[in-house]
Amino acid sequence: MAGCPAVNVGADQQELLDAARGAARQAYAPYSKFAVGAALAFEDGTVVTGANIENASYGLSLCAETVAVAAAMKDGRRGGLVAVAVAGGDGAAPVTPCGRCRQVLSELAQLGGTDPVVWCAGGPDVLEARLSALLPHAFGPETLA
Ligand code: THU
Repeated sequence: MAGCPAVNVGADQQELLDAARGAARQAYAPYSKFAVGAALAFEDGTVVTGANIENASYGLSLCAETVAVAAAMKDGRRGGLVAVAVAGGDGAAPVTPCGRCRQVLSELAQLGGTDPVVWCAGGPDVLEARLSALLPHAFGPETLA
């Protein structure tokens, strides 16, 4: 996947990935044993994290990114999302947001008119892409306006 040119997004890649890795330690993933953490960075410098929370009814499981977005929005955030870090798994391939999480992230981003950079890690390699590249032609609040 194509990377993005380095830009000042108001968030440090290493710090945000460390926050995501820290959040992954709080994952409840007894079924997949695939712990994931997500960290969202906002324009005001705030970082909000989430971890995946699974359920014995497997399909009800929540991804780390969705938990992080829910945590941010219940605190009143409606935009300002500048960067996202996702980390976890078995330490091999970078963990990229699933399709549902791309849509959930996109809603929050579109509310503030930002296109956050997304950093994905598993092992040492970091995949970097804009959310708009991960979810082109996104459906969102503007579509319904
Ligand atoms: N998972 C996430 O938390 N985020 C993603 O973007 C990909 C998948 C979780 C869901 C499930 O608990 C576990 O990883 C294995 O799929």
